[in-house]
Formats: sequence, structure tokens, C-alpha cells
Amino acid sequence: MAILPPLTIVLSMLFFLNKASNATADTITQSQSLQDGETLVSEGGSFELGFFTPGSSTNNSANRYIGIWYKNVPIRTVVWVANRDNPINDNSSVLSITKDGQLLLLNGNNAVLWSTNATTTKISFTPVAQLLDTGNLVVRDEKDKNPENYFWQSFDYPSDTFLPGMKLGWDFRTGLNRRLTAWRNWDDPSPGDYTSGMEPNNNPETMTWKGSKKYYRIGPFDGIEFSGSPSLKYNLIINYTYVFNKNELYTAYFINDKSVISRIVLNQTIYAQQRWTWDKDSESWRSSNSLPGDYCDDYNLCGAFGMCVVNQSPVCRCLDGFKAKSPESWNVMDWSQGCVRSGNWSCRENGKDGFVKFSNMKVPDTTRSWLNESMTLEDCRAKCFENCSCTAFANSDIRGEGSGCAIWFGDLLDLRQIQNGGQDLYVRQPVSQTGTKHNNDDKIIEDFEVPLLDFALIVEATNDFSSNNKLGEGGFGPVYKGILPDKQEIAVKRLSRTSNQGLNEFMNEVKLCTKLQHRNLVKVLGCSIRQDEKLLVYEYMPNRSLDFFLFDPTQAKQLDWSKRLFIINGIARGLLYLHQDSRLRIIHRDLKASNILLDNEMNPKISDFGLARLCGSNQNEGNTSKVVGTYGYMAPEYAFDGIFSIKSDVFSFGILLLEIVSGKKNSGISHFDNNNNLIAHAWRLWKEGNPIQLIDSYIEDSCILYEALRCIHVGLLCVQHRPNERPNMATVIMMLSNQNPLPEPKEPNFLIEKILIDGETYSTKEKLSTTNELTISILSPR
Ligand SMILES: *[C@@H]1O[C@H](CO)[C@@H](O)[C@H](O)[C@H]1NC(C)=O
Ligand SMILES: *[C@@H]1O[C@H](CO)[C@@H](O)[C@H](O)[C@H]1NC(C)=O
Ligand SMILES: *[C@@H]1O[C@H](CO)[C@@H](O)[C@H](O)[C@H]1NC(C)=O
Ligand SMILES: *[C@@H]1O[C@H](CO)[C@@H](O)[C@H](O)[C@H]1NC(C)=O
Ligand SMILES: *[C@@H]1O[C@H](CO)[C@@H](O)[C@H](O)[C@H]1NC(C)=O
Ligand SMILES: *[C@@H]1O[C@H](CO)[C@@H](O)[C@H](O)[C@H]1NC(C)=O
Ligand SMILES: *[C@@H]1O[C@H](CO)[C@@H](O)[C@H](O)[C@H]1NC(C)=O
Ligand SMILES: *[C@@H]1O[C@H](CO)[C@@H](O)[C@H](O)[C@H]1NC(C)=O
Ligand SMILES: *[C@@H]1O[C@H](CO)[C@@H](O)[C@H](O)[C@H]1NC(C)=O
Ligand SMILES: *[C@@H]1O[C@H](CO)[C@@H](O)[C@H](O)[C@H]1NC(C)=O
Repeated sequence: MAILPPLTIVLSMLFFLNKASNATADTITQSQSLQDGETLVSEGGSFELGFFTPGSSTNNSANRYIGIWYKNVPIRTVVWVANRDNPINDNSSVLSITKDGQLLLLNGNNAVLWSTNATTTKISFTPVAQLLDTGNLVVRDEKDKNPENYFWQSFDYPSDTFLPGMKLGWDFRTGLNRRLTAWRNWDDPSPGDYTSGMEPNNNPETMTWKGSKKYYRIGPFDGIEFSGSPSLKYNLIINYTYVFNKNELYTAYFINDKSVISRIVLNQTIYAQQRWTWDKDSESWRSSNSLPGDYCDDYNLCGAFGMCVVNQSPVCRCLDGFKAKSPESWNVMDWSQGCVRSGNWSCRENGKDGFVKFSNMKVPDTTRSWLNESMTLEDCRAKCFENCSCTAFANSDIRGEGSGCAIWFGDLLDLRQIQNGGQDLYVRQPVSQTGTKHNNDDKIIEDFEVPLLDFALIVEATNDFSSNNKLGEGGFGPVYKGILPDKQEIAVKRLSRTSNQGLNEFMNEVKLCTKLQHRNLVKVLGCSIRQDEKLLVYEYMPNRSLDFFLFDPTQAKQLDWSKRLFIINGIARGLLYLHQDSRLRIIHRDLKASNILLDNEMNPKISDFGLARLCGSNQNEGNTSKVVGTYGYMAPEYAFDGIFSIKSDVFSFGILLLEIVSGKKNSGISHFDNNNNLIAHAWRLWKEGNPIQLIDSYIEDSCILYEALRCIHVGLLCVQHRPNERPNMATVIMMLSNQNPLPEPKEPNFLIEKILIDGETYSTKEKLSTTNELTISILSPR
């Protein structure tokens, strides 16, 4: 190596000296302020305070903030920011302390960028600002170290990080409300719309908000933990406290092992509250807990008197003795309107009023509630019974036999079951309901006639199936746009005449399809029949289909990441409904991008569902002599052996996931090197540890990397070779909605396309005569 020029040596020595001279200072005094480039280090060396630029920018004169970060963690991790709203745009600013104890951040022109506003009534004192080893920046009298006498402390004004020893909640004496506010994103510390704090209800609870809307409720403290967060239990290292009296309401935690570095952060990128713990071996932060944890944690997902059970499908049900308020919306999995009492209830009337116990419950929202910590459960019941607006009661402290009384008035909101956790909740009910078990899952679908539309009317609406009206050609025949006399726009599928199904059978199946209603399925409006011509009539979708956007360079830009994720989740829910929730167990068999239609709000709607049933043969067996499907989306067992199951749909869904993330068609070989198809390409990148490369360049800016990678991971799990190794749709939805670790995918059978083309190992002599995008029917040699 060349000898360094002397100037550099001098400069770096100066730098070193400069650093060394400051390394011991943890205090700002009247005579010693803090300039950009200098830092305070806490006495034990745990935390450092100074100027920084967030994100990866190395420009030391742009977006400067004063912050506190860990001194002994090599990845700079900022836990507190002073001037969140007011970045400094040069490196000439100074943090100093005034004679009356205010911290002031002044820029080069002596304008105040940030200040502490602390006031004191003390007459004679010498204020200093000290960075404590807990990460707390405090302003105190030089001679007074009593925490009770701090004039100001940064722990009272948290940013996005909840540190050990910090209090989150209220000081009623001063009106101070300490709550967390997320950074807008990872390189912008200005306050986001995701916040967390304590609600000072009669029975206080911890809550997170998205804007002004409740987002996830951690719940009231039950003596051991917060009702909705079972993971706090039995933790030997972390010790939680909860204080509620006339002066204060707060929660705090302490870490018993001094060598453990751990923090809780509100993360707006993924709208989650995460606990991160520093892993010294791998020199990285590990997330050990993330809330909300699953689908049921969505605030009030199931509406009033509805209960969420995460491993059930659908996840929402009405409490026993209640029924859906709006059966129509409940049936299409919009549960927001909740449930109402189903029986006759008469308050306090003997033989008509009682309580039913529900176990393992997260207790309801406590906005309208009441608490007495010294009452017994019996007294609690009596207290609730005597007031007709009381709807439920429970012990407020579940330790030991349980004690205390919490009661709720009016609608019970945000109820869920917690596996291996939660507590008993007693809900008021008509006595006739108590003791009996009602199955609320199974009901609602009312029998209605299939609208049989006049054939002549359809002919007119479509201009006699004019080629100008043709929207496309699907697997079972061409589709036309039509306009009914009342101006309603429709899509008409003219079924090919190959089916030899009887009329009644056809009508029965159309009837089934019109009953399949879900916001992610295209609505079947009815059918029309003349002699051997059969028409299916759907709602018209103005925004075409997913393939139109996804695979077209000019349109793909319109689908940013959040739209894509929204579409993925919609398709998953629609497919789950077909497989599981509709009671009919429909296997789609031809799921592909061109069958995903988009409405004017870009809601994805699966189309052509049930068509395999309507038009194919042997539909009730998992074994068919005629393979219907689309090249590129077919599961190997289906393509080779004609065996279809919900897992062959899951395979197609996996392909769709990879296509949506990558913006590439599975069947378009030419996109990739080495003659790979999309699955092979994705698998290769995955094995090389480089799945990021798969992400569509059009979403590079909008994409939340973590989510996109998770989608690729789930996609690869869906396309695994063996059907029983693929997750079902309920699991897929769970995987997409939480952050639990996923199993490592096994190698998919990406050779399928090659084999099909070569025709070598394919068991039939038939050659595939098809273009990539057409739905194909292969006659197998059975
Ligand atoms: C750094 O940021 C400042 C303020 O935004 C800007 O004026 C300057 O050009 C930037 N310097 C570099 C090297 O990007
Ligand atoms: C302040 O910024 C200027 C221009 O970017 C740079 O030359 C100077 O060294 C910086 N001073 C400090 C103390 O970082
Ligand atoms: C200090 O007070 C000013 C004026 O009331 C206000 O704009 C500013 O946000 C306050 N700063 C802090 C840190 O509370
Ligand atoms: C938010 O979470 C994502 C995914 O876990 C992570 O990559 C990111 O760094 C987190 N942001 C913050 C501010 O912790
Ligand atoms: C929890 O921490 C507090 C404060 O350090 C301490 O007073 C209390 O005894 C601890 N409790 C347990 C169970 O460790
Ligand atoms: C409710 O009460 C009314 C009038 O007392 C009665 O006609 C009706 O059958 C009752 N309904 C049920 C479900 O018990
Ligand atoms: C709480 O219950 C106890 C025991 O029943 C009673 O003595 C006390 O007055 C109640 N407190 C309130 C505020 O109702
Ligand atoms: C029942 O409780 C509600 C809510 O606390 C209260 O407003 C109402 O006055 C109570 N009614 C009776 C009869 O005690
Ligand atoms: C398609 O959806 C977009 C929203 O992304 C909307 O602005 C547009 O109007 C829709 N197009 C049609 C034809 O409805
Ligand atoms: C499919 O049908 C054939 C002939 O009916 C039968 O031999 C075979 O066992 C069936 N396969 C499955 C998986 O049901």
C-alpha cells in the first residue's frame, strides 16, 4: 500500500482526538453545547446522542436530526429523535441549554428548530442535560439526581421506540400522555399515522391506531398480561408492570439480564408493533414478537357480538344466541355489521335473562365499561344483571381463582378467541339460548330462483353477438359485452355446444353459481337458453383482466405494489371461498391472470369459476378423463394424470403469485436465461439467495421488500411438486397476513413445461396443440 499523504494522517489524528475527547462526556452544560459531529455517550457506554442523517444517505449536510442510538450496536439503531418535524439542512446547528433549563436546537442563523419548553418554579439552580445509560436524556439540576425532580426527560416524549424503564401512558396530574408514534418510513422520522398508547377508560387498555381509527387493541391488563397478547406470559427475562391509580396510568417493562438489548418499535411500513432483540452472534436484530399477530387481530373484524376464531373458516361467527345483522353481507364475508340477538330477550325477567360463559376470550373493547378491583365474580354478575344495558362481565384479574369485576355496556366489540390463553367472559343472553349450542356458520343462503333471461333480449343487448362486442375468447366459448335496455352492462359467455348436459342439470348448476357470492368472485346474473344454445350472463367488469395490466409494459406501471398485494389477497380470499366457505367446494381448475377480472376500483374478481363444473364431465370425482386447464398454470399431477384437487388450484395460485410479483408470464420462456420458465427462474434465484431479482422493476420503488419476498416464498410453497406439501388456501391467507417463519420450499417440478413440449415422458401420444394463453383440453388415453 502507498504511504498516506501526511495531511490525511493529521486529519484522521485530529478526528481521533476529537472523538476521544468527547467519548467521556454525557452532559451538556451552559458552557458546553453540542455541535454537529460531536456526540454525548452515556456513562455505561450503552447509548449515544448526536446528529445523524436517517436512511442510507451519507450526505452529512442533508436532513440532519438530533437522535439517540445504541452505542454498543454496530448497526446504527435510532431510538429517539428530537426535531422529528424539523430536519436541519446543514451541519451548522448547535444543541445547547439555557439558564432556565430549556434545551434549544439552533441553526446557523440562530433560529430555533426545536426546544423542550420545560418550565420550572425553582429559583436558584444550575441546569444540565445528561444522557443516562437507560437511553433517557434528562434535564436536571446539576446537584439533584432524583428522577422525581427532573425538569424534562426524553422518556416522556417517546418517538417510535419503547425502551426498558420507559413509561407508556398517562400522568393525570400533569395531563401528560406518553405514546409511541411511528416514523413515516425507515428514512423519514417525521411522525407517521401509526400510534400506540393507553386509553384511559374506566377499565384502561392499550391500543394502536392508524390515523384516528383503532387498528389493533392489545386490551386491558388482566393481572398477568394484556388480554390480547398472550406472548408476554412466563417470560423470565422481561418483566412487565402495569400501574393504574388516581395519579398515573402506565405500562412499563424491565429487563432482568443486563446483557440483553431489546426494544419495542412501532413500524409503519408493515403496521406492526415489533419486539427486536440484539443477537450478538449474528450481529443482527431479531424480531421475536409482532403484533397484530394474525387476521383475527384486525380491530373488530367480526363486528358487534361477533367472534373471531383464527383457525376456523370463515374466521367470524356470531356468539351463540346471536345472528348476523345483515345475512347478505355476512355471507360474502363482510362481517362489519356484526350480529344481533336472535331470540326474544326480556331484561331481568325470570326465566328469560341469563349469562353464557365463553372461554379463552380476549375481552371486548372497554370504551363503555366499568371496573371494581375488589368485587367477587358473584357480585359482578349481580351488578351486571341489575342494569339492562350491561351485556357482559368478567374477572378483571385472572390470577389464581380470579378476582375483581369488569363489566361491559352496549355492543361487545372486537371479540376473539385466544388459543391457550384469554379468559372466561360471561355474555348476557335470553335464557332459552343458554345451554343450547347453535351452529351459526351454517345458514343464511336463501333459495332463490335463477333469473332466466329472455334469449332475444340478450341477442339484442349484444348486437346479435357482433364481433365488435366481443371481449375475448375463454376456454368455454367467446365472451361478449352487452347493454340491457335498463342500461346495465353485462358480459355474456356463449358456451360452446360440446357439452351434452341436460337442461335441468345445467339450470341446477347455474343456480349454484348464482348462489356463490363473494366480493372476489364475478357475479353470475343468470342464464339464457334456446334449444342447444346456452348463455351465461355476468356482471361487466370495466377494467379488463389482470393479464392486461401485468404483462403490458405501459400498463404494468399502474399496478404499484400496494395494488398488487391487494389483488393477491383478494384472489386468495375468493379462492378460499370457492374451496371451503361456499359449502359447494368448487375447484376452479383454470385459475390464471386472464381469469382475474378487475372492477373500477381494481378489486380482483375471479371469473369462470364453476364453469369446469358446468361444462366438463365427471365433475364430482377427483379424476377426470378430460384435462381442462391452461398451459403454464397446471399442476403436474393434473397435467400428467388428470387428478385434480383443491391443491391443483393452489398450484395455479402459486404461479399467479410469482407472476404478479415478477410481472412475467410463466409460459413466456423467452424472458429468462437458460431457457428457464418462471418457476425454474424463481427457484434458481431462491436457491442462490437472490429472490429480490425476481421482483418486477416497475414496482422497485413502491415495493415493500419484506412483503414481496414473503409472496415469493409463499408462491414457491404453493408450486411444490407434491400436492400434500402445498398449503391450502386458509393457510396461504394466514401465511400472507402474519410474519411467522415459513417452511423452506421444496424443489418444484419446473420441468413440466419442458417435458410437455418434448412429449417424451408424457404418458399420452397426443401432442399439445395450443398457444400459450389458450385454455386447452387434452384427451388422456384412459
Ligand atoms: C447534501 O444536501 C444538501 C442539502 O440538502 C445539498 O445542498 C447538497 O447538494 C447535498 N450534497 C450532496 C453531495 O449530495
Ligand atoms: C460541514 O459541511 C461541509 C460541507 O459539506 C463540510 O466541508 C464540513 O467539513 C462539515 N463540517 C462538519 C463539522 O461536519
Ligand atoms: C414548544 O412550544 C412551541 C410553541 O408552543 C411548540 O411549537 C413546540 O412544538 C414545543 N416543543 C416541544 C418539544 O414540545
Ligand atoms: C419494519 O419492518 C421491516 C420488516 O420486518 C423491516 O425491514 C424494517 O427495517 C422495519 N422498520 C423499522 C423502522 O424498524
Ligand atoms: C420487575 O421489575 C421491577 C423493577 O425492576 C421489580 O421491582 C420487580 O420485583 C420485578 N418483578 C419480577 C417478578 O421480577
Ligand atoms: C318472540 O316473541 C313473540 C311474541 O311474544 C313470539 O310471537 C315469537 O314467536 C317469539 N320468537 C321466538 C324466536 O321465540
Ligand atoms: C367496589 O367493591 C367493593 C366491594 O364490593 C365496595 O366496597 C366498593 O365500594 C366498590 N367501589 C366502587 C367504586 O364501586
Ligand atoms: C346502567 O349503566 C349505564 C352505563 O354505566 C348507566 O348510564 C345507567 O345509568 C345504568 N342504569 C341503571 C339503572 O343503573
Ligand atoms: C380502472 O381502475 C382505475 C383505478 O386504478 C380507474 O382510475 C379507472 O377509471 C378504471 N378504468 C375503468 C375503465 O374503469
Ligand atoms: C382414476 O380413475 C381411474 C379409472 O377410473 C382409476 O383406475 C384410478 O384409480 C383413479 N385415480 C384416482 C386418484 O382416483
